[in-house]
Amino acid sequence: MVETAKGGFITLEGGEGAGKSTQIQRLAAALTSASLPVITTREPGGSPGAEAIRSLLVEGAVDRWDAITELLLHYAARRDHLAQTILPAQQSGTWVICDRFADSTMAYQGYGLSLGREIVEHAHALAIGDTRPDLTVILDVPLDVGLARAQERDGDDANRYERMDQDFHQRIRDGFLDIAKREPERCVVIDATADADTVHAKILDAVKRRLGLSLKGPTA
Ligand code: TMP
Repeated sequence: MVETAKGGFITLEGGEGAGKSTQIQRLAAALTSASLPVITTREPGGSPGAEAIRSLLVEGAVDRWDAITELLLHYAARRDHLAQTILPAQQSGTWVICDRFADSTMAYQGYGLSLGREIVEHAHALAIGDTRPDLTVILDVPLDVGLARAQERDGDDANRYERMDQDFHQRIRDGFLDIAKREPERCVVIDATADADTVHAKILDAVKRRLGLSLKGPTA
C-alpha cells in the first residue's frame, strides 16, 4: 500500500486588526511556490455548516449569547469544520492554513469572557479530542493599533466582537500571550506592528525552523 504523507496544519491567531488575512495569503503562496498543496480556511466557518453557525456568532447584539452558549457554538462549528474540511484535506496530503482555531476560543471566550481555561479545555476535549495545530503563529499588536486597523477596515460593519469593550480586548491580547508562554513548542509570537514584508519574513522563518520546510523568502 502506498502511504500518502499527511499535510501539516498551521494556524494564525491574534486580536482584531492583527493582519492575519494578508499574512495567510502570503504564507499560502510561499507553500505553493515550494510545490506543496495547500488550502486556506477560517474559523468560525470553513465548511457550509460552520459558516451558518458563524453568522450566529459574529452578527447581532453584543449580549446575544451567554458565555457557555457562545463557547458551544464555536466548538460545534469547529467540529464540523474539522470533519468536513480540515481532516479530509490533511489526509489527502494537503497543508491546511487556518485563520483562527481553538486558541481563539481560549483567548476570546476563556480569557475575554472570563470562562476560564478549564471550561474551554473541557469543551475542546469533548468536541475535537486532542487535535492541535503543528504550528500556531500569534500576531501581536497593541490594542490601540489593532482596533484602529479594524475600525478602518470595517467602519460601521464592525462584527459583534469588535463592538465589545476595551477591557475585553486587553484580556484577549494577554490571553494569547499566556497561551504562547504555556506552549512554546507549538506557538510563536510575532510583533505585527512591523510592515507586512517583515512580518511575512518572520512567519516564513518560523515555518522553516519549526516544521523543517524549505521555503523562499519574499521576492523584491
Ligand atoms: P474574524 O473576524 O477574524 O474572521 O473572526 C470573527 C470573530 O470571531 C473575531 O472577532 C474573533 C471571534 N472568535 C471567537 O470569539 N472565538 C473563536 O473561537 C473564534 C474562532 C473566533
